[in-house]
Amino acid sequence: MSRMSARSSLTVVLAAGEGTRMRSSLPKVLHPVASQSLLAHVLQAAPSGPDARLAVVIGPDHQAVADEVKRIRPEAETYIQRERLGTAHAVLAARAAIERGADDLLVVFGDTPLISAGTFARLRAPLANGAALAVLGFRAADPTGYGRLLMQGERLVAIREHADASDDERKVTLCNAGVMAFDGRKALSILDRIGDANSKREYYLVDAVEIVRTSGMEAVVIETSEDEVRGINTKAQLAEAEAVMQARLRKAAMDAGVTLIAPETIYLAADTTFGKDVTIEPFVFIGPGVSIADGAVIHSFSHIVQAAIGKNASVGPYARLRPGTSLGEGVRIGNFVETKAATLQTGVKVNHLSYIGDAEIGANSNIGAGTITCNYDGFFKHKTTIGTEAFVGTNSSLVAPVKIGDRAYIGSGSVITKDVPDDAMAIERSPQNNRDGGAKRYREIKMRKKKPKER
Ligand code: UD1
Ligand code: CA
Repeated sequence: MSRMSARSSLTVVLAAGEGTRMRSSLPKVLHPVASQSLLAHVLQAAPSGPDARLAVVIGPDHQAVADEVKRIRPEAETYIQRERLGTAHAVLAARAAIERGADDLLVVFGDTPLISAGTFARLRAPLANGAALAVLGFRAADPTGYGRLLMQGERLVAIREHADASDDERKVTLCNAGVMAFDGRKALSILDRIGDANSKREYYLVDAVEIVRTSGMEAVVIETSEDEVRGINTKAQLAEAEAVMQARLRKAAMDAGVTLIAPETIYLAADTTFGKDVTIEPFVFIGPGVSIADGAVIHSFSHIVQAAIGKNASVGPYARLRPGTSLGEGVRIGNFVETKAATLQTGVKVNHLSYIGDAEIGANSNIGAGTITCNYDGFFKHKTTIGTEAFVGTNSSLVAPVKIGDRAYIGSGSVITKDVPDDAMAIERSPQNNRDGGAKRYREIKMRKKKPKER
């Protein structure tokens, strides 16, 4: 991203905090904004490319955080901060990475998910012009809790943490966003001089500023908007960041041509992708891993996660598309239909009140109201395969594993337990038969494999 400068970089992401103020057993940086962890947002904004290295400092017992790093930026190194002695101490947990050298050393907190790649580039620019340190600052509506940037004219002379600030210093609204860029050749000697002489007896990264100034080097401030650097310490701040992120995602979708009838009621994921001329009606939730192709319409009150929606498809109102759903061109999913691990080819219709799970449905088949794929026998999940141009009558139960052929016809109210060949007609309505058949099969399996329940 930041290939505008030919300078190499090392970005150290601090993510070792417990996040006690979140009151959660989940490590803070794994909480989601737009269906993606705080940490993932930061890792994606950080410089990447052949000249950009990445190191993440995590807490002990935070394997899940390490896993998230691997998933998002597999090339990143992780370092463990065993004791939490402050932000400067945390940076030095990655000492080995810093010692290997880079033109620019960037430090960013894992709890500021709204930061953009462009801001990293802006922050690095002064280093190329000789500054030893560039600090990202913002004007806080309420500066309480933030470190204050103390200026003498244009010169940054110090950062004072809220707890250590005088009454006059607390009036300063220009605050430390928590992102800093050091001249990589000077960084270690500066960091090593930071002490813990403050009210919390922590090694504060912000003390780097005074060290830089008293050594006659240059420290500068680059300003950005508060919305880009909201630090998340509480659930209320998490919700504020979500609001900012959603506004951004909706705007980007509309700029790309998506029609959002009531944008403020639509929730998108950071990775949602859209084709042209997509329309989304009010009150739709879109989770991670969703793509919506040209001309598709998502009707109100639909909930969609990990699903690919084909061209000109129509979904909802009140549809639930679960992970592994793939809808071909022109597919129609109507009200109160749930799908999971299901591939529906071109032109399939499932218009009312159905569950389609672990299934494949061939082109132009029609699935009647109330059809259920009975995919779970109490032990295992089984697959339902339906051919092309089949017709499944209303209120049918398709007891998987089962195959229904091309152009087959299933009479309404059927309970289908055996494969139905191509072009065949099956009307299976005897409750007695079906009950016995189902129960017998269930008992058989139970006797045969006393296996643990599949998840
Ligand atoms: C910090 C800044 C403050 C700034 C604010 C912006 C310092 C001393 N203070 O305060 O000037 O205005 O962010 O949001 O830098 N962390 C570790 N190990 C530690 C301590 C912290 O990894 O020992 C990590 C945390 O996980 C977090 C980040 O560093 O991601 C910042 O720590 P936090 O406690 O949230 O600092 P703030 O009090 O918000
Ligand atoms: Ca914070």
